[in-house]
Amino acid sequence: MFLRNYWYVAASDTEIGRKPIARTILGEPIVLFRTEAGEPVAFEDRCAHRHLPLSMGKLCGDTLQCHYHGLRFAADGRCVYIPGQDHVPQGARVRTYPVVERHHWIWIWMGDKALADATKITDFHWLDDRHWGARSSYLHVEANWQLVVDNLLDLTHLAFVHDTTIGNLALAEHAKVGVTRAPGNVVVTRWIIDQEPPPTFKKVGGFTGNVDRWQIIDFTPPAFLRLDVGATPTGTGAPQGRRVGGIGMRNLNAITPETETTSHYFWGQAHDFDIDNAQTTDKVFEQIRTAFLEDVAVFSAQQKNLNVFLDPPQVDIAADAGAIAARRILDRLYDEEQTARRAAHS
Ligand code: FES
Ligand SMILES: [Fe+2]
Repeated sequence: MFLRNYWYVAASDTEIGRKPIARTILGEPIVLFRTEAGEPVAFEDRCAHRHLPLSMGKLCGDTLQCHYHGLRFAADGRCVYIPGQDHVPQGARVRTYPVVERHHWIWIWMGDKALADATKITDFHWLDDRHWGARSSYLHVEANWQLVVDNLLDLTHLAFVHDTTIGNLALAEHAKVGVTRAPGNVVVTRWIIDQEPPPTFKKVGGFTGNVDRWQIIDFTPPAFLRLDVGATPTGTGAPQGRRVGGIGMRNLNAITPETETTSHYFWGQAHDFDIDNAQTTDKVFEQIRTAFLEDVAVFSAQQKNLNVFLDPPQVDIAADAGAIAARRILDRLYDEEQTARRAAHS
């Protein structure tokens, strides 16, 4: 199940340059590159002549030259040159995708071009905001994108999957949890009051006693999860909105389906303390990366089972409330897209 009329992260800004790169998104092979002026461009990765992936070709100025017979395609997808031939046939063009560069990511619109509106790109400003230290990265995931969404909406798993880094049992057993649902948004709020901080928080926050810790998870479709997390010394008023003397972070996640069983996982970590210290940024980033690699191992093991058992029955528990709410939204949006598609084709 893919939702098409959305902006997705296709790549990080540093990945895309003057060497074309291939990437499959929502099952579609795409080639990405930059023009000489630095503008990102995305084509379907298939030559209009005999279907060779254009990512095997090379850039000649602002045109992408196919590796097979040398046809050249301009940034608007039109073929502008055929070796040994003056006439360029009408149909000699490749499909292009709208792309926008924002927050160190290259965003791509996978749906109806008439609906592509860059103001709808999900806000990830923490990744390039001077009030935050931040670093972002990429993981390839051997699992369906919705398994990643489920994971981030149920943080009780931190107590078990990440017990040596960002989790401890207090997270699963002592959290006050609230779930707020809106038509296009789910927010899961978790407060863990007067508990021991997990190992990572001790390392970067220097806490000596118990803390009040929050995890506020904001989900927007199709697969954007922005986590506001942090802790302050217990009893200093964080639940009432007074966040002083502690640490605050944003864990930022944009999942892009590659195929039904694999995903591109773009993520970043921003912090509001010691923001100009690159070592702190790296330390925070590495702690989260270690944890995320633990998640990636879980996702691929789940997917392996799902490949064998094919839609097996499953049991829901209270901690699934956020993930179930998100899946309901996604199912509804998918039905709406399919209905609109059928109407357009009838
Ligand atoms: S297949 Fe691309 S030029 Fe022939
Ligand atoms: Fe995790």
